[in-house]
Parts: sequence; structure tokens; C-alpha cells
Amino acid sequence: MKAIRMHGRGGPEHLVYEDAPQPQPAQGEVLVRIYATGVIATELTWNETYQTKEGVARPLPIPGHDLSGVVEAVGPGVTDITVGSEVYALTAFGRDGAEAEYTIALPTELAPKPRSLDHIQAASVPLPALTAWQAFFDHANLVEEQTVLIHGAAGGVGVFAVQLAHLAGAHVIVTASARHHDFLKELGADEIIDYNTTRFEDVVHDVDIVLDMVGGEIIERSWNVLKKGGILVSVVNPPSPEQAKAHGVRSVWFIVEPSREQLIRIGALIDTGRIRPIVETVIPLSQASQAYEQGLKGHLRGKIVLRVIN
Ligand SMILES: NC(=O)c1ccc[n+]([C@@H]2O[C@H](COP(=O)([O-])OP(=O)(O)OC[C@H]3O[C@@H](n4cnc5c(N)ncnc54)[C@H](OP(=O)(O)O)[C@@H]3O)[C@@H](O)[C@H]2O)c1
Repeated sequence: MKAIRMHGRGGPEHLVYEDAPQPQPAQGEVLVRIYATGVIATELTWNETYQTKEGVARPLPIPGHDLSGVVEAVGPGVTDITVGSEVYALTAFGRDGAEAEYTIALPTELAPKPRSLDHIQAASVPLPALTAWQAFFDHANLVEEQTVLIHGAAGGVGVFAVQLAHLAGAHVIVTASARHHDFLKELGADEIIDYNTTRFEDVVHDVDIVLDMVGGEIIERSWNVLKKGGILVSVVNPPSPEQAKAHGVRSVWFIVEPSREQLIRIGALIDTGRIRPIVETVIPLSQASQAYEQGLKGHLRGKIVLRVIN
């Protein structure tokens, strides 16, 4: 099969489009024909891209763990997944990914593709939507009428975070550069702060939840905008527990986990028109390195998706 493989650790310059062995589904596994895959630009910097979850090196790893495609075959013991069904998924890091014509997924990772989306749109959903979902509902326990501050609101994760927080009945404050403001308002942002001209900590106070997709100094500057008992959730850098304690708040950093159940619920929200995916650009699989270069610049609106089948 054709695939993108990393020939060395580092940046997009190591990505090579070439022939690779087609995987075969073992006991409990599913073989998926990939139609499209979402790009996670920072994935090339993670240890999990180059090793198994047990820490064993994976030579020539295939990146890309967001997929939309069709079930090609199932391994022994898989009884609840039908060959030919359209699926989307975030697959676990630590295994070969979806920047290929075929990949292996587990039944617990695969959900039916939202009916209202094509494969390109569906491939832009799993990792960012699951990240926003898990941040708000598994870690921060968001409830109606709370105030949330979302940093990096126009990016891949941010566009889902804004929509899910709005849908949950929160007051949604976001930071983004000016060109995204009208767009973010349409998605459900109530207050928008241009991070190039305004320091958010000068104008925001008494927030219940800060969700950070930017990291670095943004974390340090966020402590004082939280109300006592609030929570700072970063998906970029672990916030200091000592700082959290000193400010009378909680903090968490987490890595998103695959979830069939949550993707089914997210798919239902999409199919009923309550949230929608945002695709910045579509690029052919063979030009994956360009997609990563663009993604690493960090000023996206939504996701870059690689088209695997025309
Ligand atoms: N832990 C996890 O499980 C997990 C899961 C998903 C993602 N992540 C991480 O989360 C981060 C964001 O991912 P992503 O895919 O959403 O990123 P992305 O698509 O690259 O988006 C980044 C966004 O941040 C905005 N931005 C840049 N600097 C900013 C600032 N100072 N203040 C406010 N907004 C700013 C950019 O908008 P402008 O055009 O306005 O600059 C852009 O829209 C990455 O570091 C990624 O690795 C972690």
C-alpha cells in the first residue's frame, strides 16, 4: 500500500511517501480502508509516534491517528463491526496511524461516520472534538451558566471547544486574532479578545474554567482570571500544582483518549446540526510534509485534512 512513513525523528522533512506493507487484522482488530485523515502537526514531536505504548521502538512509523474510511476486513473475534460500514475514529498513539491506504483500528475506537459528513469533513473531527469533550465533560465537569475562557479558540481543538461550551449553556469567552472574530461569534463565542492588542487578564475575571490550547506563558497569566475553586485545563503543558494550590484552584493536563461512545454522541450532535467541523485545507496524502509545515506555523482555522482516496 502507499503510506507516509517517518525516516528519522524530527520534523516534516523526514516524512516519505512510499510503499509499505499492508497490515492484516489480528484477533480483535479491524482493517480500515482510509479515505481521509486529519493532520496533528505536533504528533511528530511526541515519543508515542516513535515507540509502542510499552516503550519499544517502532521503526518507520506511520503518523496520523484521525481517520474516516470504510471497514475492509475484521479479525477473528470481531462480531459487532460490519465489513463495508463507514467509520470514523481516533486510533491509539503508539501504533501505526492512518496516513496510509489501510490501517488497523480497534472496535472500541471506531464509530459510525456521521451521515451528514463526507469523509474529508469526518476525518477532521475525532481528535479535536474528543479533546474538547474530555476537557469539559470528563475533567472540568462543565455545567450550564458557568463562564469559560478558551485560549486558541480558532484552532483545531478550539472550534469544537467553543461550540460544545456554547451548547452546554456556558458563557464563552475566547482569545483569537482579529481575523477569526466574526467566525468565532458564529460558532457561539460571547466575548472575543484579540490577543495581539489586549491582555486577557486585564479584562477577564471570575472564570470557572480556562481551557488552554496555546501553553507557555498563557498558563502563568491564566491563574488570576479564575474564581476560587475554578479549574485550569491545559492540553499543551502541565500547569504547576503548586501554583494551582496557591491560587485556590485546580489544574489538569491530559492526553486525549480514543472513545467510540463519545464519538457516537459527537456524531449525533453533528447530524442534528448542533455542531459542525471546520476544515482549513485539504491536501493529497502524497504531499503530507507540506501539510505538517503549514500546521506547525500554528495559525490555523480548524483542521488540515489529507485526502487518501480521490
Ligand atoms: N493533550 C492532548 O491530548 C492534545 C490534543 C489535541 C491537541 N493538543 C495540543 O493542543 C495544541 C493546539 O492544538 P490545535 O490542533 O488546536 O492547534 P492549531 O490548530 O494549530 O491552532 C492553534 C490556534 O491557536 C491560535 N493562537 C496562537 N497563539 C495564540 C495566542 N497567544 N492566544 C490565543 N490563540 C493563539 C491560532 O490562531 P491565530 O490565527 O488567531 O493566531 C490557532 O488558531 C497543540 O499544542 C496540540 O499539540 C493536545
